[in-house]
Amino acid sequence: MGSLEGRVALITGAARGQGRSHALALAAEGCDIVACDVPGPMPVLTYPLADREDLATTARLVEQAGRRCLALPLDVRDPAAVHEAVERTLSDFGHLDIAVANAGVVQTGPLDGVTEEIWDTLVATNLTGVFHTLKAVLPPMRAQRFGRVVVTSSMGGRMGIPEQASYNATKWGVIGLARSVALEVAKEGVTVNVVAPCTVQTPMVQPDPSQELPAEVLARFTRHNPIPKPWIQSEDVSRAVVYLATDPGVLTGVIMEIGLGSSARLP
Ligand SMILES: NC(=O)c1ccc[n+]([C@@H]2O[C@H](COP(=O)([O-])OP(=O)(O)OC[C@H]3O[C@@H](n4cnc5c(N)ncnc54)[C@H](O)[C@@H]3O)[C@@H](O)[C@H]2O)c1
Repeated sequence: MGSLEGRVALITGAARGQGRSHALALAAEGCDIVACDVPGPMPVLTYPLADREDLATTARLVEQAGRRCLALPLDVRDPAAVHEAVERTLSDFGHLDIAVANAGVVQTGPLDGVTEEIWDTLVATNLTGVFHTLKAVLPPMRAQRFGRVVVTSSMGGRMGIPEQASYNATKWGVIGLARSVALEVAKEGVTVNVVAPCTVQTPMVQPDPSQELPAEVLARFTRHNPIPKPWIQSEDVSRAVVYLATDPGVLTGVIMEIGLGSSARLP
């Protein structure tokens, strides 16, 4: 029997990458899953987002692991859609115990090239999308006096990195949001923690896995990391998510850095 038997977890950005991995890791511990994703195209991005087939694959994999999966296409930029997803979770499963606010988008390049549209897209998904998710999931968790919330930031939310200013601004922002809310709900059985991964080998950084990235790109990823690897895998982050989800209620406001040693460079 898994350590989360009977729990229900809602994950945003669950159609692929880290979100899918979190869904499978939580399912392996016994959770039923609500997988949210598929916001539609965002033309300012240089890579495609997940589609309905990706989301259906996550659902199939969760079901193959023996758990229920409710797959909901939605955009975290739309507060009504996120609210409806929580309502649907409560009507289908009766409760919501774990939430992973993982949906995010990236754009890299010097600030000069960051248009209003790029800035608005990153802030709306990476920061306001997490705000919408917290607003929707916290009321039922507070009412049942139990909840485990994990917010996905980045090592880019722990330091300055050139050519990542807008992305990093959102990832610093969610840390302030999560830690402040953690204090608001700390007496109510609800914890709010953060995972901060370094580069992860997902479609966000390698949209076509059959195409190897150029050596200079891999070298650029590696240069921040005392452990000399360019990236980690989604499962490395999922272990942290499971750890925070299974915590008995003594960890909140924590930033779990999964950074190939780059934490050692922080003050
Ligand atoms: N890949 C990395 O190097 C890396 C490093 C640190 C942090 N992160 C963060 O990890 C999280 C997961 O990213 P990933 O690496 O799995 O990338 P990914 O692009 O594979 O997955 C992100 C998922 O979020 C979904 N999504 C994007 N915008 C959305 C929206 N508005 N509404 C609903 N869903 C939306 C996408 O469709 C996609 O399935 C993101 O928040 C990302 O910023 C990624």
